[in-house]
Amino acid sequence: MPENDPPAPEQPTLPSSERGSAGLPPARLGFATRQLHAGDRPAGPHRPRATPIYLTAGFEFEDFDQAHGRFAGTDDGFSYTRVGNPTNVAVEDRIADLESGVAALLVASGQAAVTTAILSLVSAGDHVLASTSIYEGTRELLRDDLSRLGITVDFVDAPDDLAAWDAGIRPATKLVFAESIPNPKNDLIDLAGLAEVAHRHGVPLVVDNTLATPYLLRPLEHGADIVVHSASKFLAGHGTVLGGAVVDGGTFPWHEHADAYPQLARERGLDGLTYVERAPRTAFLEFARRVAMRFGPAPSPLNAFLILQGVETLSLRVQRQSATALAIARWLEQHPGVESVDYSGLASSPHHELARRYLPRGQGSVFAVTLRGGLDAARQFTDALRLFTRMTHLGDVRSLVLHPATTTHVLRDGEQLAARGIGQGLLRLSIGLEDADDLIADLDHALAAVAAVDLVSTVGAS
Ligand SMILES: Cc1ncc(COP(=O)(O)O)c(C=O)c1O
Repeated sequence: MPENDPPAPEQPTLPSSERGSAGLPPARLGFATRQLHAGDRPAGPHRPRATPIYLTAGFEFEDFDQAHGRFAGTDDGFSYTRVGNPTNVAVEDRIADLESGVAALLVASGQAAVTTAILSLVSAGDHVLASTSIYEGTRELLRDDLSRLGITVDFVDAPDDLAAWDAGIRPATKLVFAESIPNPKNDLIDLAGLAEVAHRHGVPLVVDNTLATPYLLRPLEHGADIVVHSASKFLAGHGTVLGGAVVDGGTFPWHEHADAYPQLARERGLDGLTYVERAPRTAFLEFARRVAMRFGPAPSPLNAFLILQGVETLSLRVQRQSATALAIARWLEQHPGVESVDYSGLASSPHHELARRYLPRGQGSVFAVTLRGGLDAARQFTDALRLFTRMTHLGDVRSLVLHPATTTHVLRDGEQLAARGIGQGLLRLSIGLEDADDLIADLDHALAAVAAVDLVSTVGAS
């Protein structure tokens, strides 16, 4: 698919508010153009071409009345960085545009994005239905921390079974949560089908799109209502900062479900309006902004700037990383030391058909390889790698390796690991921008090291 050929939009995609207008023509531009220009508004008398870093706690009020206006909401200028900052807004507008959303919120980390999105939708007594195949940090937040606030959570153990989702939604369910590319197993789900199930019950679908990025997949175009990101991964791309984003699709009819979401469609502010009346298309995001403002996970404008730098090359990196990942997955799959490879780009993957439908531009660069020889092989392999970095991170320009069973998934017992298909020989790879041949040589060397130890122990035993 050509780089500048995204699906046609239903509405103008460049936010036109005074704060974020790019001044670009309203026509839909290609992804690579928008990752450089959307939300871009050279500001100030010196007209700096790069987005300036407004590293300031707050903004001066011109006079008494302006101070009041900023607090009363009659003047939408900036007041305090936790509430809003021009550098952060530039990133928000660009991410909203790239995700085909109507508005976005930048927060301090991916976990803050997930937490903000969920806390904007639930109250004590409510219920969340989530895929079991999600980032462990999110799973633990849902299971251990939300429960302390009186929010119950159920996990769908077979996320590709839409009937299981349908059966799991209760009257108290306020959101359905899934990831576009779950790691490490790449077990994709039918997002449009899941959105349809959620909407039939009057519930929004929230999708963590961290691993796909908007270059490979835009969940809002497949029926999702809200997207969240760990911007620490591919969006920033260089492993230097943490950040997170919440994106509002602007299509969920909150007003039709005012009993379920009174904070959006029933409770009135100082101006006598509900969030929905005040901003029909961005009501959720405006409320999420308030939640974030109160709970406090504000991103540093310096981090926002670094995320923006990353976003400007997103498509180039993700395209190349996906292509290299596919080449490596194919190479690994035929290696005698390898038991299996979980990559949806491979024809052997049970999720390949969904990948063809949802990920035609590439299937991402994070996947699992299971070695013959279990834990010992995984240890020897990991320690023999020279180019791959041993690290709990992904979406970096550098290639990374991690052993989930003893790290990210260490709180899961053997039975749960087996149910998720995460064996002791499984390693997660996040493919970076190095030359594919060099990465394959590194993997080859590490697999040879495993085989050499095997040989020694076989000879030793005989
Ligand atoms: C899919 C996914 N969502 C959310 C997060 C949390 O992001 P952060 O580390 O930026 O808080 C991660 C972190 O690894 C992730 O992989």
